[in-house]
Amino acid sequence: MAGMAATASTTLRSSFCPAPEFASSNVGVRGGARIVRTHVQASAALPVVELAAQVVSGGGLGVIESDGISGLQFAVAGGGAIAALAAALSFADPEKRRQKQAAETGGDEKAVVRNYFNTKGFERWNRIYGETDDVNTVQLDIRTGHAQTVEKVLRFLGDRPLEGVTVCDAGCGTGSLSIPLALQGAHVYASDISSAMVEEAARRAGAALSSSSNGKPTQTPKFEACDLESITGKYDTVACLDVLIHYPQDKASAMVQHLASLAENRLLLSFAPYTLYYSVLKRIGELFPGPSKATRAYLHAEDDVEAALKEVGWVVRRREMTGTKFYFSRLLEAVPAAKAQ
Ligand SMILES: C[S@@+](CC[C@H](N)C(=O)[O-])C[C@H]1O[C@@H](n2cnc3c(N)ncnc32)[C@H](O)[C@@H]1O
Repeated sequence: MAGMAATASTTLRSSFCPAPEFASSNVGVRGGARIVRTHVQASAALPVVELAAQVVSGGGLGVIESDGISGLQFAVAGGGAIAALAAALSFADPEKRRQKQAAETGGDEKAVVRNYFNTKGFERWNRIYGETDDVNTVQLDIRTGHAQTVEKVLRFLGDRPLEGVTVCDAGCGTGSLSIPLALQGAHVYASDISSAMVEEAARRAGAALSSSSNGKPTQTPKFEACDLESITGKYDTVACLDVLIHYPQDKASAMVQHLASLAENRLLLSFAPYTLYYSVLKRIGELFPGPSKATRAYLHAEDDVEAALKEVGWVVRRREMTGTKFYFSRLLEAVPAAKAQ
């Protein structure tokens, strides 16, 4: 499996050149595993092969995570036929697959997400957000991209001292943001829908804070297993990184407004941005179902997020984009309009 992944990614890297045309694609089942062959020809001016690999592999935040390219044979060859792509798109029916996944989990979409991040998803993301070498090329790239997002958030927040500042890390995962904030003296409340995630975050925080020697008075974050909707209270700052991918747009606006209502001074939101380009790539990625694609992934138009904020009197003060080969995430820092400089 690992060998296959390495072969595939090598092929993709060596074929890196812009704007592929999809020549042919066939999908079959062999020995219970779904085998997909896609022939791609690179021809124009965008790094689509890389990004298609992202969606195909279920790469970054922007799409759906998976074990990488394993389980998938991705051959680069000649020819071009968008019709084949269209046929393949109609062949795969992601909606049916999702319904099946939901039925298997015996729950609604949120139950699917919770279950996923307590089981397979926890194992996968715990590795991605950790330091283990047990990650493939795609996962390593996602780790790098995500670390860049966290770094940017810390840079935004670092423009004033964090000692004693209350921060809510909504959907905290394994604590990638909560822990550095706590180390800088912030009083952190962190929650996640997955109890496995918060347990791991608490374990990591305990280890990091006990070995810290930065001399700052620190407080262990308060970790809690609960969904975003259930968070209450008021915090100086609220951060919600890479979680909105689990919210359809009709629910995302209400969620953005809920998060803003919890914050007194600033809100940091990162999400996979909707553009035609990314949405096509995401759709292509959906051709390649894998056991790990247990959750739906939603891209969000930046304008919609901004409009939701505006409705409740918030404005975007700063924005950043992080894009690596397999990870793409828009970061917004919003503040109450009355406090905007
Ligand atoms: C891609 S991870 C990001 C984790 C963390 N924010 C970070 O950047 O390191 C997405 C996280 O969102 C959590 N999540 C998904 N849906 C959620 C919900 N409705 N409420 C709270 N957490 C949720 C998942 O359990 C997972 O830990």
